[in-house]
Amino acid sequence: MKVLFATSEMAPWVKTGGLGDVAGALPAALRALDHDVRVLVPAYPALSKSFPDAEEIARPRWLNGLLPSPGLKQATAPDGTPLLLVDYPHYYGRPGNPYLGPEGRDWLDNHLRFGLLSRVAAWLGSTSSTVDWQPDIVHCHDWQTGLAAAYLHYLPGGQAKSLFTVHNLAFQGLFDHASLFELGLPDAAWNIDGVEYYGYLSFLKAGLQHADAITTVSPTYAREIQTDEEGMGMAGLLRHRAQDLSGILNGIDTREWNPATDRHLRQTYSSRRLEHKAANKAALQQELGLEQRDDLPLLGVVSRLTEQKGLDLLLEVAPQLLKLPAQLVVLGSGSHELEHAWKALAHKHKAQCAVVIGFDEALAHRIEAGADIFLMPSRFEPCGLNQLYSLRYGTPPVVRATGGLADTVIDATDARRGNGFVFGPATAEALLQAVHRATLAWRDPVLWRKLQRRGMARDSSWQDAAGHYAELYQKLLS
Ligand code: ADP
Ligand code: GLC
Repeated sequence: MKVLFATSEMAPWVKTGGLGDVAGALPAALRALDHDVRVLVPAYPALSKSFPDAEEIARPRWLNGLLPSPGLKQATAPDGTPLLLVDYPHYYGRPGNPYLGPEGRDWLDNHLRFGLLSRVAAWLGSTSSTVDWQPDIVHCHDWQTGLAAAYLHYLPGGQAKSLFTVHNLAFQGLFDHASLFELGLPDAAWNIDGVEYYGYLSFLKAGLQHADAITTVSPTYAREIQTDEEGMGMAGLLRHRAQDLSGILNGIDTREWNPATDRHLRQTYSSRRLEHKAANKAALQQELGLEQRDDLPLLGVVSRLTEQKGLDLLLEVAPQLLKLPAQLVVLGSGSHELEHAWKALAHKHKAQCAVVIGFDEALAHRIEAGADIFLMPSRFEPCGLNQLYSLRYGTPPVVRATGGLADTVIDATDARRGNGFVFGPATAEALLQAVHRATLAWRDPVLWRKLQRRGMARDSSWQDAAGHYAELYQKLLS
């Protein structure tokens, strides 16, 4: 099958979160099953620089709307995945975060930037395309490419089937009415059964409404988003489309995230050589200026600093966690308020708590390896990848029972299958209690080794998920 994977992020070039990881690994897993998957992504500076010889293969033009005519370039990723780069420097030639300007605010032309990406995706799946490769399926991801499904629906010549994967329902791509015209969508699309959402144009709704099928990144999240409590205003529509909606649990890039070969670590280790993990803890303590203590559990966090991730909840109980006693390492960036508050906490407890604000891939690996316990108290979590990394790194996670966390982490009270610690309510008490249980278990070396080994043995590769996506593609075409 020929599949166009349309995405606004792709690791290792452009990544703000899990979407980048997924787009960097799932296409190769599908290609391993013999599907012809190509990735459509904007030619951000990191990609233009990595593929200076990318060859222009087309220059799509539009008859309506105000979107410009971009170049479409072709390159091949090191793993063999063909890339189609949407080249329009005025939109994509901006360094840094793909969505935010230097002040941390959304670029004001994001509707055009991601509208163009969506439009090129739909064009490739339509009879207007001049490219000699035509996808059977256009697979869109999150609001940034949700509009592709609407273009395929409303504009003439659409022939590919569309699949829309929701990685996070909280980001909805809302823009004002005028953008309908700029984007070249017909008036007919301005409709409750179209792209209109309470007076705004919603890219997310466009995908949910018009894609032939919808997936999200875990079975539990697929159920949760159909409830009014967790449906972020889209529950009605999602219930209406329940027949076409399913959850496929993410995998991880097991080559990139493997403690036995990880080039970022002080010392590599495996489930048979778990004693080597300790060197990574000592190195991390040293790197971040923490007291060198092997008798205290080291708690690790790598996260966007947002309410979704429960980092405000964690902040509330952090002083008590340090008193357990324990050490705490946080790597993250996000809301300025939370960044400041976390920095202030670290300042007060220098020997026990280190906070690094920023995005640092290598340090993320060192925290997964160096921490004893990983914390993910998310209020909601479509899938979550960090708990999967931490399981694989022998760093049992403490998670809230939500979304993909509930589908991957089994509480230690399950004596045969437990691999971490799970708590229910999103409250400071419940979180504190779960971390307390984890630190007690950490002090029992026999129990702890069992938990670590079970987590490390979990198969989190992309193979299963790729099989499920392939089945769904097949179903869409039959
Ligand atoms: P989300 O996509 O909601 O942020 P995920 O757990 O799915 O959450 O994926 C987050 C990804 O981004 C992981 O690969 C994680 O290691 C990475 N990440 C998040 N914050 C940082 C950071 N500050 N530095 C380095 N990597 C980070
Ligand atoms: C989103 C979600 C996260 C998920 C990731 C990849 O960013 O917040 O839970 O793992 O997408 O699907």
